Amino acid sequence: MAGAQGGWVLTATARSPTNIAVIKYWGKRDETLILPVNDSISVTLDPDHLSATTTVAVSPSFDRDRMWLNGTEISLSGGRFQNCLREIRQRARDVENKEKGIHIRKEDWEKLHVHIASYNNFPTAAGLASSAAGFACLVFTLAKLMNVSEDGAALSSIARQGSGSACRSLYGGFVKWVKGEAANGSDSIAVQLVDESYWNDLVVIIAVVSSRQKETSSTSGMRDSVVTSTLLQHRAEVIVPSRILQMEEAIKNRNFGSFARLTCADSNQFHAVCLDTTPPIFYMNDTSHRVINTVERWSQFEGAPQVAYTFDAGPNAVLIAPSREVASLLLQRLLFFFPPPPDTKLEGYMVGDTSILQEAGVHSAEDVASLPPPPETKDKNNAQKYPGSISYFICTRPGKGPILLSEDQSLIHPVTGMPK
Ligand code: DP6
Repeated sequence: MAGAQGGWVLTATARSPTNIAVIKYWGKRDETLILPVNDSISVTLDPDHLSATTTVAVSPSFDRDRMWLNGTEISLSGGRFQNCLREIRQRARDVENKEKGIHIRKEDWEKLHVHIASYNNFPTAAGLASSAAGFACLVFTLAKLMNVSEDGAALSSIARQGSGSACRSLYGGFVKWVKGEAANGSDSIAVQLVDESYWNDLVVIIAVVSSRQKETSSTSGMRDSVVTSTLLQHRAEVIVPSRILQMEEAIKNRNFGSFARLTCADSNQFHAVCLDTTPPIFYMNDTSHRVINTVERWSQFEGAPQVAYTFDAGPNAVLIAPSREVASLLLQRLLFFFPPPPDTKLEGYMVGDTSILQEAGVHSAEDVASLPPPPETKDKNNAQKYPGSISYFICTRPGKGPILLSEDQSLIHPVTGMPK
């Protein structure tokens, strides 16, 4: 039985954010090392609303590496976990904890086993990318526990081997994953473009779209796209390189119009690549398309992009507004077309930064019911509404990168070495 009887337990706990790509990663040139066919750019989301927390514990009494995700033990036998563990162990250094009388030498780490406990502060069932936050947090926490001296770039290159998009979660703000050229992947790393305070007016609203369908995983979807889609090749070689430059420029200048145009175009092209794949992959559903129409009609009416939308490998919409004022206007539109199902309360329909509801002037389900149709609606008396097609909204903002937490936030018991 694994426990810590007769031995010490040393832990490290950290929290890492998730991220949403505004220029998408889709397609690998190396499946094992997880090397992409193009650069990508993402915005890190506020870890208060969407993040993974991970504790790694080490004890001489542990007889094997074990991991628990959201309270359930999962297998660590997968190549991706093993690659991350191996890469960090190779870089482990001496650790001394005088208070506990612990001295681990560099070479001891090869023989010592770890217990890992991780949980996401957002529902896994929501279909929001959890692997990015999860692998970033695993690598960051292991590195802290093992006193690894490598910088964020080197750690990003290790997190990348857990899940490609995870490498971008090692930093806050806007982050570029440089695809790199080296065959061993050493230059396929994340770099921070600007930190989270640089463009801090941005508001992110995520519409968690109701869906019963099991989606194709990103990993297998992009494998099929690489083999069968000629659009993917053109995208990687011609479109993305110039889009990356334009996106970096838009971010540097906080040019929302350009940022929104590029973000929407890139999301739509990623989903076009999915359609160009054999067999075709459908990630967006009717609700996703209706959210796009709502935004596009509004922007058309105003003569300029009002908010940006982007969709990953699923139907959820991620909407980015330039300010709280515009986010309130967006929310009024979303609640008008996608109200909560009849007889449901407003609480629970908006999570995260719920103060946006007050700013939008919406305090109750009755307020939702009396929202007027937005001015751009053609037939105002017969506007079609879709109650229940969105499960709930999350309001958040750009956020910071991984942080180390204190011992009292540990997910693992300091004596037994087991999840709390
Ligand atoms: C659509 O990083 O989940 O979210 O590297 O195989 O683990 P693997 O895939 P993953 O793919 C993410 C794809 C995406 C776009 C993006 O995040 O850039």
